[in-house]
Amino acid sequence: MSRDKLPVVVLISGRGSNLQAIIDRAREAGCPFELAAVISNRPNAAGLERARRAGIPTRVVDHKSHTSRESFDDALAEAIDAYRPGLVVLAGFMRILTAEFVARYQGRLINIHPSLLPRFPGLDTHQRALASGASEHGASVHFVTSGLDSGPLIAQARVPVNANDDADTLAARVLEQEHRILPEVICRFAEGRLTIDGERVLLDGKPAVQLM
Ligand code: GRF
Repeated sequence: MSRDKLPVVVLISGRGSNLQAIIDRAREAGCPFELAAVISNRPNAAGLERARRAGIPTRVVDHKSHTSRESFDDALAEAIDAYRPGLVVLAGFMRILTAEFVARYQGRLINIHPSLLPRFPGLDTHQRALASGASEHGASVHFVTSGLDSGPLIAQARVPVNANDDADTLAARVLEQEHRILPEVICRFAEGRLTIDGERVLLDGKPAVQLM
């Protein structure tokens, strides 16, 4: 590990396409962060293989071997802290975290969510966006606070909803944007350019432009 790059731990639950976008960005010259570890709550998450291929240490903290949310979160925090990360990224991590866990990583825990928050927190966002008749949809990156998919927004990307879209075509269009904005936000964080000011996020001391 180089000393001048921010160590980042990424938490996943599945496919890991956002993880792959982060791995690809970390390989670019001058990238200000490096991946210290990838941790999954599911032993069979395909994203673990992506991490192994990239030579990144992996860990599994299986929620099924814990009887309470608290004990799972304690084990998860212990696994994370072993890598001393400056930033923890939830990239398709499908577990609700306790308030204690969130407080422990306050200001250094971010999440990618496939909607224009505060619209459609939770699951099935693409289906719900279609059902609402919205003409646009998108993705958000935010600092994590204890509510579901809540916390100060760092960046959003919009996509149009087309007349012939179904949840899959819309999800694919949103995912492309996720892969763009999440690595970009990690870079900005690693460069020390983001600060939290109440409910707002500042970029270089000015209100962050939330639409990327
Ligand atoms: C992404 O759409 C993410 O926003 C959502 O779950 C999906 C994970 O995809 N929370 P991947 O595992 O990064 O491919």
